[in-house]
Amino acid sequence: MDLTTRLGPLTLRSPLVAASGTVGSVVDFVAVGALEHYGAAVAKSVSEEAWPGRPPPRLSPVGSGMLNGIGIQNPGVAAWAAEVGPRLGGTGVPVWGSVVGKTAEEFGRVAAVMQGTGVSAIEVNLSCPNLEDGMMFALEPGAAARAVAAVRAATTLPVGAKLSPNSPDIVAVAAAAAGAGADFVVLGNTVWGAAIDPETRRPGLSGVIGGYSGPPIKPIALRCVIEVRRALPSLPIVGGGGVRRGADVVEFLLAGAQAVALGTVHFAETRAGKRIVGELHRYGRRHRVTRLADLIGAWSPWTTAG
Ligand SMILES: Cc1cc2nc3c(=O)[nH]c(=O)nc-3n(C[C@H](O)[C@H](O)[C@H](O)COP(=O)(O)O)c2cc1C
Repeated sequence: MDLTTRLGPLTLRSPLVAASGTVGSVVDFVAVGALEHYGAAVAKSVSEEAWPGRPPPRLSPVGSGMLNGIGIQNPGVAAWAAEVGPRLGGTGVPVWGSVVGKTAEEFGRVAAVMQGTGVSAIEVNLSCPNLEDGMMFALEPGAAARAVAAVRAATTLPVGAKLSPNSPDIVAVAAAAAGAGADFVVLGNTVWGAAIDPETRRPGLSGVIGGYSGPPIKPIALRCVIEVRRALPSLPIVGGGGVRRGADVVEFLLAGAQAVALGTVHFAETRAGKRIVGELHRYGRRHRVTRLADLIGAWSPWTTAG
């Protein structure tokens, strides 16, 4: 099966995208991952100044998923550009940068520095609280649009807006991001969650509430893809959330995503991309699909009798 896929202005050799925060700065992942099987890999999100992140515990296994409250620990964009930038060319995969900020202007300033580092696209991580009202940018179409517009103005690179499944109206936020110049949307990020150990009575995370990821969130992410594709059929989508197998990738493609992110699966299996590409090829042979692009949006509705 030809795995090539078009994502707005980008052509990817494979639909697999390594999700931000699950493959470090990408350069560290080269030795342990199988990045040659991915169409792109997204570096950990970076802000203007260094953010220390939250104290431990910051990761907590919960059922078949994982709860994290890292607090977007990062060295700040200048240090990131100096340390990581020169090594991006050696990764063998197109690397996308990921920007965060506490104001729309900060998003723009980070993108301006990042665009000179050799990244091939910029993801705007909107799951970050806005300094103005403490609410995630991704929850409010106006705030999301301002952050995306600031990044759009700062770079000529393709821009992807990473939205949040916690948003009460994901279609409105996607439309606002596209209106502000996003070339594609990423659906989505982690789902808010929490855990408490009944023995110690302590929460699983020092920050109490964090991001839930892994297989249990797949139906939520898939619902987001279906909603956005229905309302905005020409807006390219990177789907993802809970992907573990080739069949999960096919599910997101059928729902209407052009590419599919792998995240938490990397913590258990750093070379998951290689296995999943093999599973995609087997699916293609079994269903006589020669071009992966033919699967995009190709789900069959139930026909009602009578
Ligand atoms: C430990 C951890 C750190 C993450 N850090 C980031 C980050 O820095 N920026 C970002 O946009 N998403 C971050 N994410 C979210 C993932 O990129 C992904 O969207 C999410 O985990 C859902 O996909 P999954 O179920 O396949 O993991 C992080 C996820 C995990 C588990």
